[in-house]
Amino acid sequence: MERLISRGAEADIYLGKWGPLDTIYKVRVKKPYMVEDLDNYLRKSRTIREAKMLRAARNYILTPYVLYVGFKSYTIVMQYIDGKTMKDLINSKPELSYVAGEYLAKLHNNGIAHGDPNTSNLLLESKNSKWFMIDFGLSYYTERVEDYAVDFHLFKEILNVQHSDVYEQALKSFSDGYFSISKIEKDRLINQVEEIERRGRYSRKRRFEF
Ligand SMILES: Nc1ncnc2c1ncn2[C@@H]1O[C@H](COP(=O)(O)OP(=O)(O)O)[C@@H](O)[C@H]1O
Ligand SMILES: [Mg+2]
Repeated sequence: MERLISRGAEADIYLGKWGPLDTIYKVRVKKPYMVEDLDNYLRKSRTIREAKMLRAARNYILTPYVLYVGFKSYTIVMQYIDGKTMKDLINSKPELSYVAGEYLAKLHNNGIAHGDPNTSNLLLESKNSKWFMIDFGLSYYTERVEDYAVDFHLFKEILNVQHSDVYEQALKSFSDGYFSISKIEKDRLINQVEEIERRGRYSRKRRFEF
């Protein structure tokens, strides 16, 4: 492991080598405030889940190759994608979110919810101009439309909060991309998204009342 390139809530991301290959080491670090047994359990299960779902998702979209999974070091070694995140590109090119919609719908059509869809989890590889999706630690198999609507809602929320200047256009492109692929009827999914958002507002309001 050579260089720390990202420190998230859950994991440290290092750029390193695996033999001659440039690779990413994703290391789930210890959380000092958490009970140790629970912390170890969560780090292990999310590492296993992420490695498994990175592989599963590759049947439908591009994801980095997994080279090694360390169950005791809570580490995944994977292909390094040399490029930029959608987060860094979307403010000047909001239509890029079309791909996010397509990728999410491809996962959903095959019974996979991503769990944490956001603009930092899509990488455009410079060399081949290809998009890769990452960060599958909260991903799971599901057939429920409501779970797909949660993914849709989460991405929409990211656009609203992190890309507010281009929100309208980015959301339209995301939605167009999604429904160009999705097997679910548009009205049905949007109704579910609105239901989630109504519940969110209601619970936020309640919290203020106490
Ligand atoms: N395979 C990869 N290739 C290139 N960059 C990566 C790769 N995996 C992660 N990164 C970079 O590290 C950041 C955080 O990684 P991620 O897996 O999303 O962890 P976190 O759980 O902290 O969000 C990404 O947004 C991206 O910039
Ligand atoms: Mg991430």
